[in-house]
Amino acid sequence: MSGDVPTVVPVAVPGGRDYTVVVEAGSIDRVGSHAREAAPDVRRWAIVGDDTVSGLYADRVRASFEAAGLPASVFAFPAGEANKNRAVWAELTDRLLADGLGRDGGVVGLGGGVSGDLAGFVAATYMRGVPVLQVPTSVVAMVDSAVGGKTGVDAPAGKNLVGAFHPPVRVVVDPTTIATLPVAERIQGLAEAVKHGAIVDAEYARAIERDAEKLRVGALEPTTRMVVRSIQVKAEVVSADERETGLRETLNFGHTIGHALEAASGFAVPHGSAVALGMVLESRLGEVLGWTTEGTARELAGILERVGLPVAPAHPPDVERILEFVRADKKVRGGRPRIVFLRTLGRVDSHDGGWARAVEEEALRALLIAA
Ligand SMILES: NC(=O)c1ccc[n+]([C@@H]2O[C@H](COP(=O)([O-])OP(=O)(O)OC[C@H]3O[C@@H](n4cnc5c(N)ncnc54)[C@H](O)[C@@H]3O)[C@@H](O)[C@H]2O)c1
Ligand SMILES: [Zn+2]
Repeated sequence: MSGDVPTVVPVAVPGGRDYTVVVEAGSIDRVGSHAREAAPDVRRWAIVGDDTVSGLYADRVRASFEAAGLPASVFAFPAGEANKNRAVWAELTDRLLADGLGRDGGVVGLGGGVSGDLAGFVAATYMRGVPVLQVPTSVVAMVDSAVGGKTGVDAPAGKNLVGAFHPPVRVVVDPTTIATLPVAERIQGLAEAVKHGAIVDAEYARAIERDAEKLRVGALEPTTRMVVRSIQVKAEVVSADERETGLRETLNFGHTIGHALEAASGFAVPHGSAVALGMVLESRLGEVLGWTTEGTARELAGILERVGLPVAPAHPPDVERILEFVRADKKVRGGRPRIVFLRTLGRVDSHDGGWARAVEEEALRALLIAA
């Protein structure tokens, strides 16, 4: 994958709203022409991003619109998950209204997953919906949140509880922007990339392990390779899901236990770390229950460790508290938690027409006590 050849990945959406993800070094300076091509009816664009990313890249994005002969203004909001809420959604919406953005307007989501989710939700609801073009700048946003069409904000009752399905008209990924991302954020994003390898492509997971050092520092070539492969996996999975195969559920690998660990820690354990632990623990459970090939958890832990992610809880886990969060999870059915198990590294088998299996809480409790 050379840095200067664009890679184009198609994503299928029902109702003819298919879009493409373009991965190309330097594309941050060509967002305007992508916008013109992907949404020719849009007359004016609002660039919505957090203040950190806007400070770094919004001028270049705005200049690209100028070069494409399209008016665009920047609307920044304070960085951080704490601002992915309805108050900031309302404030951004009011600022767009005050600026006179009309039904022929469009929104650019510039930044990490917080910016993309928030900008996407502003676009989904603005005058009953205007186009959004996503420009992800974090590893999480590139490999995960910018593709798939989920947008939304957090509520006091929980994360991502208010939102809308609003697929982008295009996703423009410039892997050179990863150079400015803090290393700890890069490592968090790598958890989802390893997950993509774990569910469909063992060779990809092993490539991440081989490239771990370079990926941690954001080296362009391996980062581009990884971003492209992860986007292909996510695009395949969500496109297949539009054909109602339910395949999207496989993306929950590591997340039943991961989400519970994250919530039980009061979000002190970041999402990527929680998912890394979740993937190892779910694989160990799969091995105990005979659904996952022996040795899978160990191989996965080796990969995650090389990447710099935790593979064992830092403290003895508060088992009952974690189980409470597992029970509260939307993946529980009939009182039994549902977990996506690997058959082996790179493969998930379907089961009873679905991709997750219900497990007895007792088995999960025994696993957590031993962790
Ligand atoms: N919609 C979905 O399908 C989906 C999927 C996964 C995650 N998410 C959401 O994504 C969010 C997490 O995303 P995130 O980890 O990107 O968080 P984020 O957007 O907060 O970004 C993390 C930090 O990195 C900074 N940053 C981003 N890009 C940068 C760059 N190129 N240079 C310097 N700094 C940069 C941001 O300002 C922020 O401080 C969560 O809210 C999560 O719910 C959504
Ligand atoms: Zn996740």
